[in-house]
Amino acid sequence: MKLVHYPHPALRHPAKPVTIVDKQIQHIIGRLTELMYEHRGVGLAAPQIGVPYQIFVMNPEADPQNKEAEWVMINPVISNKSGSVEGEEGCLSFPGLYQKVRRAQKIRVQGFDPQGKSFDRELSDLLARIVQHETDHLHGRLFIDYFNPVGRIASKTALAAFERDYRRDQEKKLLPSNKEILRQLRAMEEELAQRTAQSQTVASQPAPSAVPLL
Ligand code: NI
Repeated sequence: MKLVHYPHPALRHPAKPVTIVDKQIQHIIGRLTELMYEHRGVGLAAPQIGVPYQIFVMNPEADPQNKEAEWVMINPVISNKSGSVEGEEGCLSFPGLYQKVRRAQKIRVQGFDPQGKSFDRELSDLLARIVQHETDHLHGRLFIDYFNPVGRIASKTALAAFERDYRRDQEKKLLPSNKEILRQLRAMEEELAQRTAQSQTVASQPAPSAVPLL
């Protein structure tokens, strides 16, 4: 599992809710966390490593030593948006591209943590911005979708370069074809559904490493 860059199809593919946290999901969370710190990000969502599951990690301090600031959100749902504030954003799927994006200043977010416990929080400013950006990733929405006309013009060349690099990597067979990537995404979705079904058939047995959610 590696970082994927725009226009990788996983970034536009809506992710599936996660209904079980087993070893494989814990492994994905570990990999997301590792890559977020390695690339000095403040958040990273599963689709950004080619995994179509509703999981993201964040740490507004971008500091691996500060574990208290680290959050893992599973199946997050945003509500009660209020206020509006413009701020500079970047995205690990668009290295080097920064633009102003308008976001709600305050939000409420509900979801699950890796222990399967539900959470419900009111967030504002940077935390609210990160959660909105990462939750968008889980629904195939990207920060470029919110650029204003000036930002769109200013980023045109950069986006064309990402598209060109991506096509070149596919031609060199460094990346699979889009058709093959979509096949892999669907296979991961089916695998998650199967693991969930299997866990439900043994739900009466103690399974500490597999915590069902919902
Ligand atoms: Ni991003």
